[in-house]
Amino acid sequence: MGFPAASARAFQYGLGIFTLTALIGLVNATKIIGNLDQNTLLTHLHSGTLGWITMGVFGIAIALFAREGVRAPAVTLSALATAAYVIAFWSGNFFARALFGTIMLATIFGWWAWVVYRSNTEGFSKLSNPKFAMLLGLTTLVIGSTVGVIIQIQFALNAVSDQTGNLIGTHASAQVGGYLILVATGIIEWLLLGERRTTGGLVQSVLLFLAGIALALGQLLGITPLLLVTNVLQVVATVMVVVRLGPAVMKTAWGAASGMRHEAIVPLYLVIGVVLVVALVQQIIAAQGDIGRVPPGLIHSLDHTFFVGVMTNALFGAILAATQDRPRIWPWADHLIFWGLNVGVLSFTAVLVFVGSSTGAAAFSHPVSYTAPIMGLAALLGIATLSMRLSSAPAAQRAASPA
Ligand code: HEM
Ligand code: HEM
Repeated sequence: MGFPAASARAFQYGLGIFTLTALIGLVNATKIIGNLDQNTLLTHLHSGTLGWITMGVFGIAIALFAREGVRAPAVTLSALATAAYVIAFWSGNFFARALFGTIMLATIFGWWAWVVYRSNTEGFSKLSNPKFAMLLGLTTLVIGSTVGVIIQIQFALNAVSDQTGNLIGTHASAQVGGYLILVATGIIEWLLLGERRTTGGLVQSVLLFLAGIALALGQLLGITPLLLVTNVLQVVATVMVVVRLGPAVMKTAWGAASGMRHEAIVPLYLVIGVVLVVALVQQIIAAQGDIGRVPPGLIHSLDHTFFVGVMTNALFGAILAATQDRPRIWPWADHLIFWGLNVGVLSFTAVLVFVGSSTGAAAFSHPVSYTAPIMGLAALLGIATLSMRLSSAPAAQRAASPA
């Protein structure tokens, strides 16, 4: 399993931007400066989903598709485009958001086109399960991001209508319910089982792709049966993940400081995530499609189950695998990162479901103030440790260089 230098660079940029996500998260959890405005919350959201997760996904795409000296798209330019869009969110300027959102979409389109080109060169009928999942995941990302830019242009032109609300729901559903789940299942399968092509793996990815599209279309057109179709497809696909990866998960050494335990815990979050999606769809139906009447704690719980439980574990595990041959700087940190991140995200998301959102609460008055920081501090420790390991030279290179 090779990780080219460009993958490591994509991971480094991703970790850098994730620092901002975690810091805003900590301020939001403790409420030390009160409640955050919408611009800062959108910065927290998109620095996490684009800056951290999507830069990390680009790093994985390079590792999967750019072997044997094939050139990958420009990582540094992609990171700059991402950082510019994140800053545009913070600025609150709708024109800047429309402009840099369009540049971000073009960047994403470039990566998708490259993955399609590489898949075609390799032969679509020969793609391994992880590559197929990545291809379908990035396809959904292009669809979801196009909807994102349409929303952004509506805001810039002051052309907001009822339809804008539906489009925001459509965007979020495609990105979280389609893109993230697909790429995550691809990454964990690659690291736990390796690259194989099996009927089970292909069917699982097709079901997840259809589930994401059905969820997004259901939101766009307000068609309730489509939301129920999503639930069925996702439940079946999640059972397939558990059955297919179960034996590898059972063999995991949970006390060993490798990336494998970060991958092996992801199916747990996929199961929790699917239960929360089913609950969300029931709530949307009960609220007759009015998402504003759905408890925000449930939505925020679902968000962090996927963003941190699923994706941050999958990417931290991949970076640990990528730095296996490098000096293990701060070896004591591995256990704190793994247990802190997971105890933190599980307790935080449970509080969001059972107690509710902390929005509007005073400083340190809500259990979120005591659970989310465990996750946030573990994430910051992970960022520092993994960044240092990524920037140190591999053992083979150090042995070859003169003392
Ligand atoms: C080019 C890429 C993207 C663009 C142009 C974009 C644009 C937007 C816009 C305009 C909004 C609405 C903001 C508002 O309420 O004022 C939004 C919200 C959101 N986006 Fe994105 N986004 C992108 C990528 C992503 C990705 C990759 C994810 C997740 C993996 C994501 C998840 C979300 C979520 C969860 C919301 C919140 C929806 C809600 O308020 O219920 N976005 N995005
Ligand atoms: C990839 C990483 C992450 C993403 C994409 C993300 C996304 C989000 C989103 C979409 C919201 C809802 C914002 C709203 O009110 O509209 C939110 C809220 C929040 N986030 Fe994150 N987040 C991430 C990581 C973190 C981390 C590491 C922390 C660490 C402390 C954190 C702490 C919080 C807190 C405390 C809230 C408020 C929850 C509530 O009480 O309802 N997040 N986040």
